[in-house]
Amino acid sequence: MLRMTAHRRRPTPAGFTKFALVACCLLWFTTACHLEMYDQPKYKPLQQSDFFADGAAQRPLVENTVARGATRLDEVATGRVGGMPEGAYVPSNPLTVTPELLSRGEERFAIYCAVCHGRVGNGKGSAVYPQFNPKPASFYDPRIVAMPDGELFDVISNGRGIMYGYRSRIQTVEDRWAIIAYIRELQKNPPAE
Ligand code: HEC
Repeated sequence: MLRMTAHRRRPTPAGFTKFALVACCLLWFTTACHLEMYDQPKYKPLQQSDFFADGAAQRPLVENTVARGATRLDEVATGRVGGMPEGAYVPSNPLTVTPELLSRGEERFAIYCAVCHGRVGNGKGSAVYPQFNPKPASFYDPRIVAMPDGELFDVISNGRGIMYGYRSRIQTVEDRWAIIAYIRELQKNPPAE
């Protein structure tokens, strides 16, 4: 019977010394010897500063700075005529209102608005406490019925009064317009008191 024997080479003491020497050299070349770059005077984000009058190292953004990825300046993204940041509110929804958009709006409304404004939009949601002052608006208030859609977009995106803005939570502008389309649909049939 043929036996296969593995021939292992034992490291000789000389071989080991050579290996250690090479390893030491490599290590030496990969280590930086100076820490000047690391220790240089610099500010960390949001650090305090004695240099600037407002005491903050973080400088205010240059006017009209647009965040990366937020370069869209049209009516859908701003709710303003011509997409101008301070322009008039667009009177009506810039998206085409389809059954799909409405059902998306109904779903998003139930998630983000109904707790305060109620499933029917009368301002009597389950999370409304007696301490809430002012109370969440009823969407059947004639002032809100008469609001341009662009203004509703502004309220949802940026908040108003004690209501918090939902821009960071309802991240796509299309979802915000879907909610607006759904609110308009609700307003056509005010609930009985
Ligand atoms: C945590 C409770 C809460 C949630 C959730 C909430 N709102 Fe409100 N909302 C309020 C309150 C409170 C007010 C009254 C604010 C004020 O007058 O200071 C208000 C006011 C409003 C107004 C009237 C603004 C005006 O000019 O008087 C609109 C429109 C509105 N909300 C829409 C929405 C929509 C759409 C959503 C869902 C995307 C939503 N809200 C989610 C609490 C909420």
